[in-house]
Formats: sequence, structure tokens, C-alpha cells
Amino acid sequence: EWTPYAFVETTIADLKAKLGNDKVVLALSGGVDSSVAALLLHKAIGTNLHCIFVDNGLLRKNEYEAVLEQYKHLGLNIKGVDAKERFLSQLAGVSDPELKRKAIGRVFIEVFDDEAHQVQDVKWLAQGTIYPDIIESVSVKGPSATIKSHHNVGGLPDFMKLKVVEPLNTLFKDEVRRVGTSLGLEHFIIGRHPFPGPGLAIRILGEVTAEKVAILQEADAIYINNLKEAGLYDKVWQAGAIFLPVQSVGVMGDERTYENAIALRAVESVDGMTADWCHLPYNVLAKISNEIINKVKGINRVVYDISSKPPATIEWE
Ligand code: XMP
Repeated sequence: EWTPYAFVETTIADLKAKLGNDKVVLALSGGVDSSVAALLLHKAIGTNLHCIFVDNGLLRKNEYEAVLEQYKHLGLNIKGVDAKERFLSQLAGVSDPELKRKAIGRVFIEVFDDEAHQVQDVKWLAQGTIYPDIIESVSVKGPSATIKSHHNVGGLPDFMKLKVVEPLNTLFKDEVRRVGTSLGLEHFIIGRHPFPGPGLAIRILGEVTAEKVAILQEADAIYINNLKEAGLYDKVWQAGAIFLPVQSVGVMGDERTYENAIALRAVESVDGMTADWCHLPYNVLAKISNEIINKVKGINRVVYDISSKPPATIEWE
């Protein structure tokens, strides 16, 4: 029978044997997978693991600072890189979802490559790829090529000339969480919802601007905090707010306004391949809607997404 303890023991021994005294770079994302991969490698090779955490400006509100702090606390050898401007400038004028993903993937590789080259004699690239990522990326390359490209799989450019190590590539998400827990990773990281690599860029329909990111970060933070306060965050597989490129009429005093709409998405799922929309209580939705409309300038309407996957994907882009 599979147990996280046996997995940790054999994986650490394997990593030690495979990596010896080599240096390894790893991109931390703040997510469960890369965090668990980092911790395993850290146990195996200590400071020969060089972690890089890139702020692409598309993370949730305050996420970069909070997560970086958490990683330092875990004792990881980590460098934070502020690349917000680089990503935003490459997204200017881009509204096609796949082109957004490509632009973000490209800038990420440039930034990561610059940083990785500052680690002398680095031999390996570690990734937090898990088993379902491999399955999904195979289907991406298949005949129905319109499925989204996930830039976190197979995104290694040849010029890096690094060997790849993926300690989690046989595990499912629940197993990764169990391994993380057995390694002492806190709930703050283990329990977090999946979040896409391209971040808020694919939750802003159409062109991404700094103003829209700021609005969405505020609305999303209100949403997520309310789920946590209501004790619902851990019951939901994934939740997030989406900025719609739709303006609708509102009244403010005796004036008519045209302002944007926010959609709220919350789903139950096992692996992200299929998903049901969550039946969140009306009183919680009401509180979230009021708070967003009262506090977030530029938003006058909030809608709740009641679509399941298939056909409606979890993300709107
Ligand atoms: P969909 O929207 O396809 O999402 O139902 C399934 C899961 O994948 C995440 N997702 C992504 N993750 N890069 C990522 O790293 C992407 O481009 C991407 N697109 C979707 C999504 O958040 C959900 O967990």
C-alpha cells in the first residue's frame, strides 16, 4: 500500500543518489506542487537547491510577499524576483487567451533563465510536475489541439541544457498533499486552491492592464476572505473572481453609470478534469456581492457562474 512516509523515504534516497553534489534550480510558484517538490529536494540536497520565485504581477493580492515569507521560514534557499513590469509590458495589446499564455510563458522562461544562469555550475532543473499534468499535456498535443497549452509542462527550452528532475511525476494531487503534510508543510500552503500559471491574466477577459489587475485583486481578495471566514474555503476545490469585459448600467444618486462586472467561480472537483459548480449559500454570496460593489471602484455588478465542466472549463479563458 502507498504511504506518504514510504514515498518520502525512497524519494529522498533516490534524489541523493541521482543528484550527488550537483546544483539544482527550481521555480517556486506558491502552489502545492512546486512547494512539495522543493521541500523534498531540500531534504535531499539542502542548499544545493536554488529556488526562484518570480513575481509576474498576476498573482493574488499580497500573495507574493506572504508566500516568499513562508518559504524563507521553511529554510529554503530562495530568491524572489520582481518582474511585474516585464510581464505587463509584454501583455499590452494582447487579448487572445492563447497568445497571453504564450507571452507569459516566454517572459517567464527569459526571467528564469537569467536567474538560473547566476547559479554557478547548475546542472538540473527541478519541476513540480504531477501525473495529471502529463496526461493533460499529452491531450494538448493530440488531434484536438485547441485544448489549452499549459506552459508549466514541457516548457524547457533547449538552450538551458539542464537535465530535468520531477520527483512528483507519479503522484495525484491528493497524494501530493499527503506527502506535503508528512513533510510538515503548513496548511497555508498545502490547503491552497490550484491557481493557473498565467494567473490573473486569464481571469481578465480581453486585454490585461495594470488597472484591471488591481481591480480584480481587490474583488478576488474579498471573495476568498469571505469563503475563509464562512468556513467554506477548504470545502471548495478552486475559487476565483473573473473580470468581465462587459459594462452594464448602474445608478449612483440620480446619475447613470457604466461600470464593469465581476463573475465569481467556485467548483468542486477531484482532479480538475471535470468539475461541478458549488452551491454556495445565498447569504455568503450576498455578503460577497455587497462588499465587492461597495468597496471596489469600477465594479457595479457581480454574477455567479453556475456552469459545470464539461463543457464550461474552470477558467473562462
Ligand atoms: P480548465 O480551465 O481547463 O482548468 O478547466 C483546469 C485546471 O487547470 C488550470 N489551468 C491552468 N494552469 N496554466 C496552468 O498552470 C494554464 O494555462 C491553465 N489553464 C487552466 C485551472 O486553473 C484549473 O485548475
